[in-house]
Amino acid sequence: MEGVRFNSPFISGNERKYIDEVFESGHFSGNGPFTQRVQTWLEDFLDAPRVLLTHSCTAGLEMSAMLNGFGPGDEIIVPSFTFVTTASSMMRTGAKVVFCEVEPETMLIDINDVESKITDRTKAIVPVHYAGFSPDMEIISQVCKRHKITFIEDSAQGLGSSWNGRKLGTFAPLASISFHETKNIHSGLGGCLVVNDEGLIDEAEIIWERGTNRSAFFKGLVDKYSWQAVGSSFYPSELQSAFLLAQLESMESNLSQRMELWNEYERCFTSLEKSGVLRIIRPPSGCYHNAHMFAISLNSPEEADKTRIRLNENGIQAVIHYVPLHTSPMGIKMGYSPEDLPKTNLAAQCLLRLPLHLDMSINDIQRIASLF
Ligand SMILES: Cc1ncc(COP(=O)(O)O)c(C=O)c1O
Repeated sequence: MEGVRFNSPFISGNERKYIDEVFESGHFSGNGPFTQRVQTWLEDFLDAPRVLLTHSCTAGLEMSAMLNGFGPGDEIIVPSFTFVTTASSMMRTGAKVVFCEVEPETMLIDINDVESKITDRTKAIVPVHYAGFSPDMEIISQVCKRHKITFIEDSAQGLGSSWNGRKLGTFAPLASISFHETKNIHSGLGGCLVVNDEGLIDEAEIIWERGTNRSAFFKGLVDKYSWQAVGSSFYPSELQSAFLLAQLESMESNLSQRMELWNEYERCFTSLEKSGVLRIIRPPSGCYHNAHMFAISLNSPEEADKTRIRLNENGIQAVIHYVPLHTSPMGIKMGYSPEDLPKTNLAAQCLLRLPLHLDMSINDIQRIASLF
């Protein structure tokens, strides 16, 4: 019986055609015609004032931390259940990361736990749009306003999702999206910074352009460009941008096919859920999601391990997700012990992700469900 891979990177079909156009233009480096076309595409799609393509979501998070001016003595609250760089991008400024719990039902940030961890050193919260789901963005905004702090959206997985009709990545002053090949839409590696606060656009462009005002020079605003601030080399090459444009132009059909697969999983697994075998990780109300991931929670870590091994033995690449950061060797070095965030610890160990990509079929999903 044929196996089912966990992921298979999406290919739209037009990537090579656009890459050929890069060869024809002779502009390979970056911030060229394809980068600008993709940025405009994303600005229109998100209805955001400025989008800057980056070489990764990590780069967008690092830029966000720099633009907020975080530094030693500042505290940033980050869910422990997330990718490493949600935390490390904040720490590179010298700021301290304070880990908080996630809600086991959604694996999204637990806002009550966040509030209990806010001190007079807290500068920001970083909600993560896990699985393309969104926590209640209204509550997050209110908490930030009340405590006079900001928030940064880690929307690595969130492109195409929305909360109460507004696209994820447009709520915070700054948000970052990933185009890594594991995401619905990708460029091998890649990402973007969404600048929703217009007051940050000029500074963001300087940081993005290696610390120079080269972007202003290209717009004809200055007659020569020079070093303005500490920045870095944050943008991708035109080859990646060309690849990404082809992907974005197929996003609508990509998301609707993914949603068909997600809905079939939900249909097949609802009876298992009713009989108490597992729980489906579903989006909270108000959230329209992009079918990035189908994840389930088993009743115990042992059940999750047994189920994963059984599926793997049958050729189904079911996988765990993040090891909570507070339990990692780095988290221990930071002074945490696993018991500090017990809810997150248990929820992460019970979680299992199932294959979801466009090279699989509805029949594959029915076969996976039959193995439970
Ligand atoms: C929640 C989250 N944040 C950040 C990242 C980092 O994205 P990138 O690999 O594009 O830097 C990822 C990557 O998977 C992620 O899942």
